[in-house]
Amino acid sequence: MQKISVVGLGKLGLCLAAILAESGYDVIGVDIDQEKVQTIARGRSPIYEPGLDSLLRSTRSALSVTTDFGEAVSRTQATFVVVPTPSEKSGEFSLKHIKAVMREVGRALAKKPGYHLIVVNSTVMPGSMDGVVLPTLERESGKIAGKHFGVCYNPEFVALGDVLRGLRNPDFVLVGESDSKAGDLVAGIQGRICAGKVPVERMSFVNAEVAKMAVNSFVTMKMSFANTLAEICERVAGGDVDKITNAIGKDKRIGGTYLKGGIGYGGPCFPRDNMAFAVFAKKIGLKAELALATDRTNKRQVTRIVKLIEDRFSSPSTRIGVLGVTYKPNTDVLDSSQALMVAEGLAKKGFEVHVYDPAVSQGNPVISSGIQIEQDLDSCVEKSDLCVIATPWDAFDKIDRSKITKRIVLDCWRALKGNEPGDISSYFALGQDMTSKKVVSA
Ligand SMILES: NC(=O)c1ccc[n+]([C@@H]2O[C@H](COP(=O)([O-])OP(=O)(O)OC[C@H]3O[C@@H](n4cnc5c(N)ncnc54)[C@H](O)[C@@H]3O)[C@@H](O)[C@H]2O)c1
Repeated sequence: MQKISVVGLGKLGLCLAAILAESGYDVIGVDIDQEKVQTIARGRSPIYEPGLDSLLRSTRSALSVTTDFGEAVSRTQATFVVVPTPSEKSGEFSLKHIKAVMREVGRALAKKPGYHLIVVNSTVMPGSMDGVVLPTLERESGKIAGKHFGVCYNPEFVALGDVLRGLRNPDFVLVGESDSKAGDLVAGIQGRICAGKVPVERMSFVNAEVAKMAVNSFVTMKMSFANTLAEICERVAGGDVDKITNAIGKDKRIGGTYLKGGIGYGGPCFPRDNMAFAVFAKKIGLKAELALATDRTNKRQVTRIVKLIEDRFSSPSTRIGVLGVTYKPNTDVLDSSQALMVAEGLAKKGFEVHVYDPAVSQGNPVISSGIQIEQDLDSCVEKSDLCVIATPWDAFDKIDRSKITKRIVLDCWRALKGNEPGDISSYFALGQDMTSKKVVSA
């Protein structure tokens, strides 16, 4: 198998297309967004992802793009589908884009001689592959899965800002398969991407669908646990959450990754995947207590931080600078960002709020008009009495120490810890004892 098409050239799909091209495949990318296709055709990335621009340049000869499904399917042997599966009001993932793509692919398959492999990388609810994807392909193509074509579910476990590394070096590859030939082919492609050094877990569609959601639900549970520890440490004399998580993370039963107290998780995947897990459990007559508690704990971080600032660190005239509003560093994504929610919560309380984020420019429509977006870090600090480090971008290490000593700093991630200005008596960190430092108001 040498020629692969990738449908959906978004945050995950475009990275996957480029990585497949880097691994030696001839890749045709397909998207319905004409403008996006034109930008990629010019060798530029329409999305912010470290390393993607240069990878697109170096793989230009192996990666072409089109809006034509028929052409992409007929000229390739496998099609990876990475279109959005947005959350519905119920919390379930919508299959509307997946269905539209499967109809197009099925029609193209009807005209194509020979075997074809279809791989779904989008996150779907359990039951979607057997109940919707496979029957749609069979109906539209008039062909039989497992005989004329193969189908796999191959969700990725990557984090925005780190997608390329995540695709090249996953901890494991998850494959739900219609039949062993299809599974062998996907295992082979992933083996080539990861230079063969990755465990591949193969199973039925429904087990893979549950496994994908289970990973994100478990990881969010760890994060909410770490945030609970942070809250505890703030109320304990000498408490320090990092001391505790660094120690307990060394226990192999726990593990240190995603075990950092902070302001909670956000982004396009974690909150919705965890809630979809709870919704799926409810649908089959169960209450996923842990997933629900994880979500409640996460949402409470925003209200508790806004209240903490209101009660302890401000007066009504305090000007607040929120440093970092993306949901994590190294991405420009603001979806379900807890940092942005804190900024918005403070603005709603009537504070003058300035924000600075290296990936957010003035006039960003997602940020409400009551918040002033600053162009650079120094002017954000200058215009603030209280600085809240809400997303721990590396750039904040370059903060002008002489300016920040004159301000109260609330460091939600202990980003300046060990490097905080020497004489700063007004430095506070989430997850650290707040009982022994005197209450201050800016
Ligand atoms: N972004 C991540 O880090 C990540 C990680 C794991 C899983 N996922 C899953 O991957 C899927 C895609 O996520 P994303 O973040 O890349 O989404 P995205 O919104 O960034 O990109 C989706 C792309 O699909 C295109 N598209 C929509 N409908 C189409 C159609 N009918 N035909 C062709 N193209 C179409 C859009 O124009 C867009 O370019 C989702 O199910 C998501 O849950 C994403």
